[in-house]
Amino acid sequence: MGEGYRGVTALVTGASKGLGRAYALELARRGARVILLARSEGDLRELAAHIREQHGGPDAEVIVADLAAPDGPERVLRELRDRDLSVDLLLNNAGTGSAGPFLGRPLEPQLRSVALNVDGLIALTHAIGAELVSRGRGGIINVSSTAAFQPMPYQASYAATKAFVLSFTEALAEELRGTGVHVMAAHPGPIATGFFDGTSATINPVADTPATVAARTLDDYARRRAVSYPGRAVTRAVNRALTWPARVLPRTVVARVAGAFNRRMRLHEVVDLA
Ligand SMILES: NC(=O)c1ccc[n+]([C@@H]2O[C@H](COP(=O)([O-])OP(=O)(O)OC[C@H]3O[C@@H](n4cnc5c(N)ncnc54)[C@H](OP(=O)(O)O)[C@@H]3O)[C@@H](O)[C@H]2O)c1
Repeated sequence: MGEGYRGVTALVTGASKGLGRAYALELARRGARVILLARSEGDLRELAAHIREQHGGPDAEVIVADLAAPDGPERVLRELRDRDLSVDLLLNNAGTGSAGPFLGRPLEPQLRSVALNVDGLIALTHAIGAELVSRGRGGIINVSSTAAFQPMPYQASYAATKAFVLSFTEALAEELRGTGVHVMAAHPGPIATGFFDGTSATINPVADTPATVAARTLDDYARRRAVSYPGRAVTRAVNRALTWPARVLPRTVVARVAGAFNRRMRLHEVVDLA
């Protein structure tokens, strides 16, 4: 499905690798002009060159920025203004999360993850959302996770940031209903990316590919869905179904089950790799 993306300028955060890279490639394939944002300039420039070779079309723009830095989002907005770039689709994908027992893991990466997953996302949404509403068109996709639907022992702060993204996005979608600006949350399950790189944690073996998740998210956005559970058919059904017990069972029970699952994934004994 390519409808809805030709002529669109999309800002993809966290585009240097993993799911963000797949979003950028899929958007370019569907005819969008992409603005690639992350901290790794070399990877972004390599991706921009790859997009130019593969898809022709409008050149990809590169913005090198740290969205977890206090002035990161403001610098991005200044850069967009200086280059006269107007965003039609904001794809808030950049996100990090540590695994392991909360008290046994260093504090600093967890604070940086909260700053990126929450502060960076709401700052970009606030500024770019206002521009979209003033133009009466465009939209925002916020990448959350199936981790958003329940407390996750051994991913405690990460899951809490994704619960924030879920709640924030649902509320904003309702506030902007009727403005012409579409807001959608995407809740992937495990994806085969380098999300856990640098630690002993591993991604669930049933993980979807980034390309599958990206394509399905963009299909759902083009269909003006309020929510996307992107992935291949089987994981879409399973991931959606797995959000239901957490809505009806007592929270203590849900936390205990989620903790048992993450212990089976050995997330209670995660260590950093040298
Ligand atoms: N992988 C999964 O199983 C999974 C499941 C559900 C949801 N998700 C969500 O999917 C999104 C993408 O995750 P992923 O698996 O693709 O992770 P990833 O492979 O680790 O990629 C993370 C991206 O975020 C960028 N990033 C990290 N810190 C940043 C910062 N301070 N400022 C700007 N960009 C930053 C990284 O680029 P630089 O390092 O170059 O800055 C990279 O491009 C996240 O929101 C994640 O929570 C992932």
